[in-house]
Amino acid sequence: MHQSSLNFIFCVRCNGPLELDVFSCSDEIKEGFLLCKKCDILYPIVSGVAILWNDFVSYLSRRKKLGGQLFNEAKNSKLKSHIKKTLSEVEKNVEDQTLIEKRWATIYQNNSKSKFYSKIKSILNQIESDVSLEHGCSIGTISEHMAKTSNQVFGIDKSFFAIKTAKEKKLSNADFFVADSLLHPFANQKFGLILALNLLEIIEPIDLIKTISSQMQKGYLIISDPYDFDRGKNSVKHTVNEKELRDELKKYSFSISSDTKKESFIPWNLQIAKRTELKYLVDVVLAKKL
Ligand SMILES: C[S@@+](CC[C@H](N)C(=O)[O-])C[C@H]1O[C@@H](n2cnc3c(N)ncnc32)[C@H](O)[C@@H]1O
Ligand SMILES: [Zn+2]
Repeated sequence: MHQSSLNFIFCVRCNGPLELDVFSCSDEIKEGFLLCKKCDILYPIVSGVAILWNDFVSYLSRRKKLGGQLFNEAKNSKLKSHIKKTLSEVEKNVEDQTLIEKRWATIYQNNSKSKFYSKIKSILNQIESDVSLEHGCSIGTISEHMAKTSNQVFGIDKSFFAIKTAKEKKLSNADFFVADSLLHPFANQKFGLILALNLLEIIEPIDLIKTISSQMQKGYLIISDPYDFDRGKNSVKHTVNEKELRDELKKYSFSISSDTKKESFIPWNLQIAKRTELKYLVDVVLAKKL
């Protein structure tokens, strides 16, 4: 985590200020705690990655293997004992997401040259912004491009492995955190550019749009999705289609750019194994708040 990021991040529970306790630091903070005195909560920083999750016990309950790995990676004794104590409190019989999230971080690394990303980059080349945010940024492929035309970029994702990979890009004006888009760490910070690519199946669309709208007074939003909503018990409650997405954005005073008023079908191919490829056709919307 960059020390300067402390000016932008707050407690995800109360939006109050965070204090920083650094255990290990080189060009960036490698190990430490961010603490909210009001909530009496510690957010750990392990291997350079700040985990700004509302409840670390529930985060590690779904990622027990990751918990073991964080314990091994941590060198400071206070950090180690915090992870150990958290692991002793995790819920049993919860499915472990560690290997799934690790696998997807590798898949995104192997597919960073898709046509879909070229399309997003070509839109981004025309947009300048001071402070920008990418929700569900995964390994930071697009955040890295945003950092060319923004002064400061933040990317958040719930996957530790994705964020760790994003941080390996070592970008001086971009920082990445493990965080939930709907319980984000930016309090009242406003952004001039926000991206939310291919998240609507995973994060409640109506809630995500409301959150994004509250994070922007004036600026640009790029939102895309293949509307692949049928995910059994993991499906979101309120789906949106091409029209409903645009209508929802208009409710929050976004105007839709003329060339994305009509739905699009941008190919997004993900080679997920030697003989398996996912082929999505993605609808991209560029929306503006004036
Ligand atoms: C389908 S992937 C899209 C990744 C990237 N935006 C792209 O288009 O290449 C969804 C991403 O959202 C992340 N994610 C899921 N739920 C999230 C949440 N509540 N908050 C933040 N990130 C989340 C996942 O870890 C994953 O990296
Ligand atoms: Zn707090």
